[in-house]
Amino acid sequence: MAIHRNPTDSILNAELISDNTGPDGLSDLAREVLEGLTKTPKRLSSRFFYDAEGSRLFAEIMHLPEYYLTRSEYEILETSKQELLRRFSADGRPFELVELGAGDGLKTKLLLGHFWDEKADFTYAPVDISDSALENLTADLRKKWPHMKLEPQHGEYFEAIERLANRSGVERPRLVVLFLGSNIGNFAPDEAVGFFRQINESLQPGDLVLTGFDLQKHPAVIHAAYNDRQGLTKAFNLNLLRRINRELDADFDVSAFDHYETYSPETGEARSYLVSQKVQTVTIRDLNLRVAFQYGEIIHTEISRKFTRSDVEQLAEQSGFQLTGWLTDCKHYFADVIFQK
Ligand code: AVJ
Repeated sequence: MAIHRNPTDSILNAELISDNTGPDGLSDLAREVLEGLTKTPKRLSSRFFYDAEGSRLFAEIMHLPEYYLTRSEYEILETSKQELLRRFSADGRPFELVELGAGDGLKTKLLLGHFWDEKADFTYAPVDISDSALENLTADLRKKWPHMKLEPQHGEYFEAIERLANRSGVERPRLVVLFLGSNIGNFAPDEAVGFFRQINESLQPGDLVLTGFDLQKHPAVIHAAYNDRQGLTKAFNLNLLRRINRELDADFDVSAFDHYETYSPETGEARSYLVSQKVQTVTIRDLNLRVAFQYGEIIHTEISRKFTRSDVEQLAEQSGFQLTGWLTDCKHYFADVIFQK
C-alpha cells in the first residue's frame, strides 16, 4: 500500500533515504513509526507497548507498590461482586460478559468465580486481537471451571460487540461489556466519546457497560505510579524501542534514551516520554528511514488520563448512556462505573 505523506508534515530532522512506496504489507507498527517519528514533536502510540515482553513487564507493573490502580480496582470488584451480579442479572435474564482486553484475567476471574458459585446464568466472551492471549486465557478458565460457557472472540472490539449483539433467532442475553483497568485513560477525550458512542450503537436498552476509571487524586500519588523506584515503567517504555529494533530492523541505542513522565493536575493527563540523551541518528532499515534526535528531544509515547466524576458523567451523557452505578475503593482512588443503555 502506498503511504501518503502530507508534504507539510515532513520536517528537517527526518529524511527518507529512498522512496517508501513499496509493495503491500506495511505493518501497523511500521506505519506508526513512519508517521510518528517524522512529526514534531515525535510520538509513538502506547498501543504498541504490548508485545510479549511488554505484556510481561506490564504484568509486573501491576504488582508494584507504587502502581495502585490494579489493587484499587481489585478491591472494588471484591467488595462489589454481589451488587454487580444483582445488576447484571436483573429481571432474571441471562447475561453475557463481553470483556475488551482481558489481560491476565486476574480481576475477571474474581468475578467469574463469584458468578459461578452463585449459579448465575452467564456466558463469558473475552475479546482480543491476539490469538495466543485468548487461547491461554480460555485454557486456564477451562481448567478451573470445565463447564463454564465461554465464547472467545478473536478480533477487533467493535466487530465482536456487533457480532454478539446482532445474533438472530432466539432472544439474546443481556450484554455486559467490561472495559477494566483504566485502559480508557489511553484515549484522547474525543476518542473516548467515540468509543462509547460506537458501543452504544450496538447495544439494546438494558445492556450495560462496566468501565474502570482511574480518578484524579493527589498528583504525587499519580506521579509515583509512573515513576517506580525499580525502574519497571522505564523498562516498559524503552521496550518500545527494542520492539522497533527487532521488528523493523532499526538500530536504536536503547541506553541513550531515558524515561520521563509528567502529571498535570490541571488536565488530568499523565504523559510518558522517551528522551534522547545525546545528539544521534537512528536508522530504521525496513522503512529506509533515518531519524535525527537533538539533545533532550522527546518521543511522546503515552497518555494515561485521570478522571473526575463530572468527566465520567459527561462521557455518559455525550454517548447516550445513563450512569447507573459508581463503585469505588475505600481511598476513592479508582471507580468502576456502570453505564446503562
Ligand atoms: C494498562 C493503560 C491502564 O496507563 O496506567 C502502566 C499502562 N503505562 N504504566 C496505564 C501503563 C505505564 C496502563 N494501562
